[in-house]
Amino acid sequence: MNVLLTGGAGYIGSHTAVELLEAGHGVVVVDSLANSHAEALSRVERITGRTVAFHGEDCTDPAALRRVFAGHRIDAVIHLAGFKAVGESVEQPLRYYRNNLDALLSLVEVMDEHGVRDLVFSSSATVYGDPEQVPVTEDGGLSATNPYGATKLFAEQILRDVAASDPRWRITSLRYFNPVGAHPSGLIGEDPQGVPNNLFPYVAQVAAGRRERLNVFGDDYDTPDGTGVRDYLHVVDLAQGHLAAVDHIADAAGYRVYNLGTGQGTSVLEGLRAFERATGSTIPYTVVERRPGDIAVCFADPSAAARDLGWKAVRTVDDACRDAWRWQSANPGGLAG
Ligand code: NAD
Ligand code: WQD
Repeated sequence: MNVLLTGGAGYIGSHTAVELLEAGHGVVVVDSLANSHAEALSRVERITGRTVAFHGEDCTDPAALRRVFAGHRIDAVIHLAGFKAVGESVEQPLRYYRNNLDALLSLVEVMDEHGVRDLVFSSSATVYGDPEQVPVTEDGGLSATNPYGATKLFAEQILRDVAASDPRWRITSLRYFNPVGAHPSGLIGEDPQGVPNNLFPYVAQVAAGRRERLNVFGDDYDTPDGTGVRDYLHVVDLAQGHLAAVDHIADAAGYRVYNLGTGQGTSVLEGLRAFERATGSTIPYTVVERRPGDIAVCFADPSAAARDLGWKAVRTVDDACRDAWRWQSANPGGLAG
């Protein structure tokens, strides 16, 4: 299959490109490079020994998308392009709605024009808001606690409506839990611009001496050690989840949604200890106030993806820490450095 990956130069997209290429699929990438570097794709080519067709275009531009579809035979699309920083989305809601929703609408319109109606969409566990019960199943109640999360909720609704409008559409939304780690080659990984928002990249930068200490956002949650519990999923497992979704896209018409997570909860302090094991160094931390908007516990019930897609996460948090550390050590300044 020839797969169009929007956002393919980004963290999850570059790992997904590797898995698709290694499985024998062709990969076309559209990425504006708003939050990534084309170097990531050169490294994907180095890892796989295959080439990637790259277009430095913005998905909000339908004319640019039409040129891409006119130039390639595309069988399916994985739509990862979007802005993802929760705090930034609170400060700049219009920029988030404009980018994430315009990109989706333009893409779906241009796909329809070209008769390409197989689509896998990057959704997020953020659509569960503060879940009423864990592990979270796909039929759990949905809500948004910030504009970023709202873009994912609206995007899922748009896709549900599109799928209902024409039986030729086959659309799968993947709700990722917390992607972490890096490719075991050390050549690609998460490359945050500025101060990392997420736990693992922040801890990696403390371990590397780029930041002094981790701020642990609260130790008074109703969890075994008082710190927040999440479902940390190795990015290579997540990338293989996309491969499974594409390979099973023909199984059912309409709209489907799957959790991609491990099913295991890990606390902030457990994650920090795992990183200490991977690096062999002590990671200093201070407990500070809770971060506004954070929830206590969130982890997946991933059994629907196992049943329908034949996919299961097989890597551990220790594997993710080891791979993240290899990537961080080999690329101390990220891909720009
Ligand atoms: P990322 O920022 O590394 O990758 C996103 C890519 O999309 C970047 O390369 C960026 O340049 C590109 N992009 C953004 N807007 C674009 C546009 N309008 N046109 C073309 N390219 C555009 O982020 P990621 O972590 O790889 O996330 C990929 C997707 O997965 C996003 O949709 C994100 O919301 C979703 N997601 C991420 C996480 C996470 O924690 N990383 C969790 C759940 C869902
Ligand atoms: C994990 C835990 C923090 C940083 C976010 C988005 C979500 C999804 C994934 C895209 C929490 C604690 C963190 C730090 C800390 N993204 N923490 N010190 O909040 O589960 O999810 O990323 O869809 O939408 O909200 O991930 O990595 O930010 O936090 O103590 O410096 O680590 O309080 O308990 P989160 P995270």
